[in-house]
Amino acid sequence: MPEHAIFVPALYTHNETIDNQHKELIKRVNDLYDAIEKGGDAAGEKAKESLEFLTQYTVFHFQAEENLMKQTGYPLFTQHKKIHDDFVITVRGLVDKLNELGPTPEFADLVEKEFTAWIINHIQGTDIKTIEWINNKGGDQMQNLL
Ligand SMILES: [Fe+2]
Repeated sequence: MPEHAIFVPALYTHNETIDNQHKELIKRVNDLYDAIEKGGDAAGEKAKESLEFLTQYTVFHFQAEENLMKQTGYPLFTQHKKIHDDFVITVRGLVDKLNELGPTPEFADLVEKEFTAWIINHIQGTDIKTIEWINNKGGDQMQNLL
């Protein structure tokens, strides 16, 4: 089983709405781990519900980020959105993996690898730079945005 994911201070983008959504994503993935770890008859159903929520919330959250980018004229909107779109395909793939593997530690490890690690890396590598640009509206932030 994976360790719980933690929202560390290095993950702050300094946009309150986006930070709260990132915290919610991390909380919800931990809920999914818990449902799997607890096991029992309801584990399959709970894991399925939890993963469904996580998928929908990921889409909702990406839309919020994309709206912010659009409103502010962020120059690498298309590239950032493509990264999101590709990830949503991965997340939808996890639904199939849950059906295949069941609510097992093996599935939880896959979620850690394909979802949690990706999200944390994306926040630190891409979202922080994007929001930094949005908060400062350009200037010399144009380099190394992604
Ligand atoms: Fe993003």
